[in-house]
Amino acid sequence: MTETPEQTFTLTNDQTGESCKLPLVEGTYGPHCIDIRKLYAQTGHFTLDPSFTATGSCKSRLTYIDGDKGILMHRGYDIKDLAAESTFMEVCHLLLYGDLPNRSQLDKFIHDITYHTMVHDQINYFYRGFRRDAHPMAIMCGVVGAMSAFYHDSLDIYDPRQREISAHRLIAKIPTLAAMTLKYSIGQPFMYPRNDLTYPENFLYMCFGVPAEPYNVNPILTKAMDRILILHADHEQNASTSTVRLAGSSQANPFACIASGIASLWGPSHGGANQAVLEMLDQIGHKDNIPQFIEKAKDKEDPFKLMGFGHRVYKNFDPRAEVMRESCHEVLEDLGIDDPKLELAMELERIALEDPYFAERKLFPNVDFYSGIILKAMGFPVSMFTVLFAVSRTVGWISQWKEMMEEPTLKIGRPRQLYTGPAERDYVPIEKRG
Ligand code: SDX
Repeated sequence: MTETPEQTFTLTNDQTGESCKLPLVEGTYGPHCIDIRKLYAQTGHFTLDPSFTATGSCKSRLTYIDGDKGILMHRGYDIKDLAAESTFMEVCHLLLYGDLPNRSQLDKFIHDITYHTMVHDQINYFYRGFRRDAHPMAIMCGVVGAMSAFYHDSLDIYDPRQREISAHRLIAKIPTLAAMTLKYSIGQPFMYPRNDLTYPENFLYMCFGVPAEPYNVNPILTKAMDRILILHADHEQNASTSTVRLAGSSQANPFACIASGIASLWGPSHGGANQAVLEMLDQIGHKDNIPQFIEKAKDKEDPFKLMGFGHRVYKNFDPRAEVMRESCHEVLEDLGIDDPKLELAMELERIALEDPYFAERKLFPNVDFYSGIILKAMGFPVSMFTVLFAVSRTVGWISQWKEMMEEPTLKIGRPRQLYTGPAERDYVPIEKRG
């Protein structure tokens, strides 16, 4: 990033003629930013941008998205190359440390993660407190936050080594906790992690293995799982990542920060959309019903939205959705599954993309549109879909948190507001109130 002082932006009040000059800062790619940190001091005015449609909250070196071109890259590597050539463990190293690892770095990283996959056995008892039909994301919010109560030796957020250990613990243990959440919901015993398996193999083993018989690793499912983890790893300053950063800015411990990210991800407008897509396809039922649901999605009086469509940043195809669609075909074909939901989804995509309403608003399928179909084919219950998103996004959240903690000064995030409430008024005792 270069701050070019000669580049400034002048804001002028057309009525009073008052104006102020603000620096215009340029990144590697993307729109330049007007640095407004001195705006209030110079003008006494705030800016107003309620859902941050045009506000940069930080500088970051992790991920770049070009919404118009449908580009996503992590530390300069295109997501399509990473999905085709890399592994989730490599991508974790890339996000955390800034580069793809060489062979010895990767071996060490995998060893460090592998030997943190077990959770404190006391955590098992937390699960017993939940109903079996609790939503898995409710359980994950609880047990991940509870990690703060166990790992006291890596809570010093100003110690780089303790930050690194917490990052390793979270990346390593989130699949274990997620698999335990699945097992608990179906009444099966927890499966302890195995150090002889790769990260995606181990996760699938803990989810689908049972003590009664050996587990056969399925290379098709393993590859699909690893690719899904890569595609969801990080995505700039989305709602849940911004939640993690804001929580971390108060010096909250990393486990509590990740739990706040899980809570934010749960919403159907965000990570909960993959579950909502499957529920929507169930609701549509048959391709003959698609037109009526397209009309519902367009009706401003109807809260129904086409789940898996649209994006705050992408005004083109979400590159992850394209990779996911290819994977969908591969996995279903390899597994010999003929899921009518895939055909229904393809038909829905075709009809929607031909409709002027969606074309005018540049609403394209996003990462969630196809992921649910693959996850269902892999045997995951729909209620677990957003948990899987959280398993992957944990590395993005903790890498963004680590980047923020490495800034020279950590300032608490504290947005201001435009107050529109009542003007000052005298107190009225209850006997005089109407
Ligand atoms: C993720 O931010 C990220 O990076 C998120 C994510 C990540 O990796 O972290 O990419 C993951 O959250 C993907 C998004 C998953 N959510 C969904 O699929 C839910 C369905 N999508 C919508 O809820 C919506 O598109 C959002 C929430 C994703 C984006 O909302 P915006 O940017 O606030 O869009 P908008 O409301 O400004 O929409 C612009 C117009 C509006 O119509 P008009 O007022 O202009 O007439 O498009 C309409 C919206 O009503 N619109 C839709 C629609 N999405 C937007 N209409 C019908 N169906 C939709 N899905």
